Amino acid sequence: MDAPTGDRSSSDEPPFDDPIEPPTAFVETANVSDRSIYERFDRSWPACWGEAAALLEWEAPYETVLDDTDAPLYRWFSDGELNASYNCLDRHLEERKNQVAITWIGKRDERQSYTYLDLHREVNAAAAALRELGVEADDVVTLYLPMIPQLPIMMLACARIGAPHNVVFAGLSAEALAQRMGAAESEVLVTCDGYYRREDAFNQKSKADNARIRLDYDLSAMVVVDRLGPELAVHLGNNEYDYDELVTAHRGETVEPVARNATDLLFVMYTSGTTGEPKGVEHATGGYLAHVAWTTQAVLDVKPQDTYWCAADIGWITGHSYGVYGPLALGTTSIVYEGTPDYPDRNRIWELIERNAVNVFYTAPTAIRSFMKWGAEFPERHDRSSLRLLGTVGEAITPRAWRWYREHVGDGETPIVDTWWQTETGAILLATLPGLSKMKPGAAGPPLPGIDIAVVDETGEPIAPGETGYLTVTKPWPGMLRGLRGGTDRYIREYWRETDNGWAYQTGDGATIDEDGYVTILGRVDDVINVDAHRLTTTELEAAIVEVPGVTEAAVVGDGAGLIAFVTVRHDTGEDEKLREAIRARLREAIGAVAVPDRIVFTPELPKTRSGKIMRRLLEDIACGNEFGDISALRNPEVVGEISSTIGNT
Ligand code: WTA
Repeated sequence: MDAPTGDRSSSDEPPFDDPIEPPTAFVETANVSDRSIYERFDRSWPACWGEAAALLEWEAPYETVLDDTDAPLYRWFSDGELNASYNCLDRHLEERKNQVAITWIGKRDERQSYTYLDLHREVNAAAAALRELGVEADDVVTLYLPMIPQLPIMMLACARIGAPHNVVFAGLSAEALAQRMGAAESEVLVTCDGYYRREDAFNQKSKADNARIRLDYDLSAMVVVDRLGPELAVHLGNNEYDYDELVTAHRGETVEPVARNATDLLFVMYTSGTTGEPKGVEHATGGYLAHVAWTTQAVLDVKPQDTYWCAADIGWITGHSYGVYGPLALGTTSIVYEGTPDYPDRNRIWELIERNAVNVFYTAPTAIRSFMKWGAEFPERHDRSSLRLLGTVGEAITPRAWRWYREHVGDGETPIVDTWWQTETGAILLATLPGLSKMKPGAAGPPLPGIDIAVVDETGEPIAPGETGYLTVTKPWPGMLRGLRGGTDRYIREYWRETDNGWAYQTGDGATIDEDGYVTILGRVDDVINVDAHRLTTTELEAAIVEVPGVTEAAVVGDGAGLIAFVTVRHDTGEDEKLREAIRARLREAIGAVAVPDRIVFTPELPKTRSGKIMRRLLEDIACGNEFGDISALRNPEVVGEISSTIGNT
């Protein structure tokens, strides 16, 4: 089996200490602290998921919790109706209209707070504006916006009128945007003139214009938020509208939330697929929102009176589920931060936690690694006593990083939830319940109540504790994807296997499970690389690199922190900085800055098996300085020494 060994570097301490009990002070106020929840969910599955659905207000109550007549095309709460925007806004007005819903923090001292009433007004005006543009229920609206308030506002405006949103991360390229819009057949685009990254202003409108040209149909409307003011004057062409003008005209209007069937599409989100063609993951309204609200409460322990900060960009699934829908469904105060963690300096995150008295902070191991590198003095300089719970997501966290996070951010006291899930799962599936379970640094945890998993070998047989296998989910769950845009066959083929015990969802992750049922994720078993908590596939990266003139072959691997590209070139091509720059430029253009490798290593040959397959695992071992696994299948062993010595010099 070639399940990877993950990024556990050999300098790390052993993976597990004694499990750590949740602190008493936390348990006393935890949203979930009654152990019977596991048994209760087990006993009454799938009806147990009614507990999650009960966190929402339904326009028409559901009778069927789970319709599995067409498995694996499961339908949750399929005869119920609700509206996501109503659930995130309207129903909170009576109790907390003047409570802050979103605190937006921009560059330097820019800051704007929206109470639930403010947000309700803005969303209504934006929904009316979308209607004016002719957007109707089921029309896909693409949002290509950075972390500015108009992004969650537009998401909720779409949800209000039943128009699924298709958020494309603002850092992706014009080509990537066009691909995602075209695949979603989306005719309305909301973008902005540009945005700040540190002191620099980036032009977003020109990327949107380029994408528009690439589409083989014309947009019916492009709405442009003026983020940069006079710093960047943009030209508005045909069917292009200034956001403020368009929305201002509708301020004060009320748009009735459209009742949606629970299985109606709430949004589509494109993620890297194994074929290199992005997959449009579709999430349904009812099951998704119920699962997200429930896990925000049970795992992230969020309470309405909390100030909660999910640091992930809303352009990815974590920002959708736990930056927007989860916290707003629960009526809490949430932070949306536009900046970077080290600007204007490395105190920024801790300063914001102190100033906003953040209670729950949710981030990714890649950020925690940076914090470690910068040093404990930055968090330690600030009052972090408001923090009650810390969370992590996106990739495996090493025990060392876990301990650092707890020690220097959580003062050795705060519990940590290591949450495992995927764009496709919509919400958290594996995590400890912080008021109940012992924590084991490095292990995500056991499946949540109501979630059934198995770690299996190639034949689908469960493996023994401690052995390496594939993580599968053996019962459906409410937040699960409804399908892939335009491809039921592809959906079933890529994710589902029929077993003697029914359908099993294939996560694509390698894992081990211990005697207590705690799962440690070892990384992807397919050609997906997690970089900076974003998913990229080797296929899409390599396809872009080989388009650069002179390049013959490329293999890209992750070294746990970033990307390394191994490239072979034609005999008449110089292996020089100019070529490296051309490769970087092509990746920036094809995918975006996230795809630019940290290192580009030229090599006369790539290591290949006798059947001609590139041995990426070996390249990964070379890049990480690991011992090599079995290389008996290698046809050209002489390249190993060559690559190792080159890499030492880069
Ligand atoms: C990885 C992000 C280890 C995993 C929510 C998964 C993790 C992929 C964890 C999904 C974790 C996510 N521990 N690995 N706590 N959380 N992953 O779709 O490989 O961007 O399959 O969703 O990230 O990435 P995606």
